[in-house]
Amino acid sequence: MFLNSRKLPLLLGIDLSSSAVKVVEMSLSNQGYKIEHYGVEPLPSNALGDKLTLDFDTLDVESTGETIRRAVKKSGSKLKKAAIAVGGAQIITSTIVLPRELDEQEMNDQIALQLDQHIALPPEEVNYDFEVRGPNRSDPTQVDVLLVATRREYVDKRQAVLEIAGLTSTIVDVEAHALDLASQLLERQMPNQGTQKLVAIADFGATHSTLCLRYDHQLVYSRDQAFGGKLLTEEIMRYYGLSFEEAGLSKQRGSLPSSYQKEVLEPFMDQMVKHVKNFYRQYQETNSNNQKLDQIQIGGGCSQIPGVARYIEHQIGIPTLTVNPLLSVTLANQPKAAHIDQDISTLMVAMGLAMRSFN
Ligand SMILES: Nc1ncnc2c1ncn2[C@@H]1O[C@H](COP(=O)(O)OP(=O)(O)OP(=O)(O)O)[C@@H](O)[C@H]1O
Ligand SMILES: [Mg+2]
Repeated sequence: MFLNSRKLPLLLGIDLSSSAVKVVEMSLSNQGYKIEHYGVEPLPSNALGDKLTLDFDTLDVESTGETIRRAVKKSGSKLKKAAIAVGGAQIITSTIVLPRELDEQEMNDQIALQLDQHIALPPEEVNYDFEVRGPNRSDPTQVDVLLVATRREYVDKRQAVLEIAGLTSTIVDVEAHALDLASQLLERQMPNQGTQKLVAIADFGATHSTLCLRYDHQLVYSRDQAFGGKLLTEEIMRYYGLSFEEAGLSKQRGSLPSSYQKEVLEPFMDQMVKHVKNFYRQYQETNSNNQKLDQIQIGGGCSQIPGVARYIEHQIGIPTLTVNPLLSVTLANQPKAAHIDQDISTLMVAMGLAMRSFN
């Protein structure tokens, strides 16, 4: 997206998320996709528990680079070229209208000229990309073009961090696109394998959630929301007087008093429900589309909350399940794969980035 070399070598997918660095190397053969290597390394900030989010404005390039280096070493991958993503609040999108007959270069020139009208940043501080979304509703001689932009500084910082880890970035993508790419691996779980079906994929992470809507194997809508499992951890801290680390551990181990389910967990799961509902409603509003949602798949660390898929299904009334890419991807024999069942739902973005090697 923001940086894209034409000839693609095999790429190491790196999800520099708020709780950890996740790296994945994949291969593709006649047998399909295979995870050759993967590694997850907690970020020092979270490991220490004194800084709750990864803040790119104050990011310590040196220590984050070292964390990536450790994650890569753990994974055993020897790849040196990486694909990385920008997501959440760091992405600005805008829909613009351009004449249909323009070719890609002409569109790019037009967008460059009017960039400051759409993105409230000095043009020299912006990295952007665009894609044609389809004919404009009110004027068929025009097309709707989705402009996706980020601060150049966010791209530069990611590259600096990778350099410290001994890697170079070949692709800087958008998280929602990476999630969408990995969603190919979820088609076996979809009704009719996704053909002519509308499926929502919601990745609930620690600080933000990425939601994608796919119709008939194509991404039709995506959104990032500042919502994630960190809010649940903070609520546990407040309610039971625990430290961030204790709260995080007890939520994952399920070792909290019986009041937890009703008093703390259900209100949090209700928020997950609300985010999925809002997302679908926004899609309907922007597309004046009444197509019924056929399925919801949830991923990210919050999808590991016991019973959460059933809870969402009950509240929304749409079949809901936890992502299981392992139905479509095999695993190279490596000892670290022992945790793959727990890790896999949190590796969607890293897998999607690694899959850029083939797409
Ligand atoms: N078994 C579990 N039960 C409840 N919550 C869990 C469980 N396992 C992980 N989590 C939570 O999931 C979150 C981490 O998920 P994930 O790895 O998807 O986030 P991330 O990608 O690092 O964050 P982000 O995408 O927001 O930058 C944490 O808040 C963690 O506490
Ligand atoms: Mg994430």
